[in-house]
Amino acid sequence: MKRRNFLNWVGVGFFATSLPVVLAACQTDTGTDTAGGGDAPEPVDTTPREDGFAAIGRVSELDETGSVSSKTLSVAVIRDPANAEALIAVNSLCTHQGCAVEWEAGEGAFACPCHGSAFAPDGSVTSGPAEDPLGMFEAKIEDDLVLVKT
Ligand code: FES
Repeated sequence: MKRRNFLNWVGVGFFATSLPVVLAACQTDTGTDTAGGGDAPEPVDTTPREDGFAAIGRVSELDETGSVSSKTLSVAVIRDPANAEALIAVNSLCTHQGCAVEWEAGEGAFACPCHGSAFAPDGSVTSGPAEDPLGMFEAKIEDDLVLVKT
């Protein structure tokens, strides 16, 4: 066997035996093992109920992140800063040009990322360019669900 053929043979053999190890090392954990009760909360059924309320999230998420929202329903819910037992639900579309506002707990306001408008928890404008308040919705808690009537 010529030296070149021998080296090619050894190289192919090394590559063939190393490939499975390299592939295994490069795989990432996809988190598909849910049998053990992973950290991701179970999704809620957002189908509107007969009473007009629809679930948009879980109380645990509300308390953990400070707010829950639904882009589909254009609604954001927080606990009332003046009464932690009460909820405040606003239409999350900014009244300026319709961007989605987000609750900024540190600011105590709904903030619009597009042009900087800010809204108090009651939906009133605290900083423009928006001029009109956010719409309000009825909200309540049942079991572990945050429900909104839109
Ligand atoms: Fe919100 Fe312009 S869309 S400030």
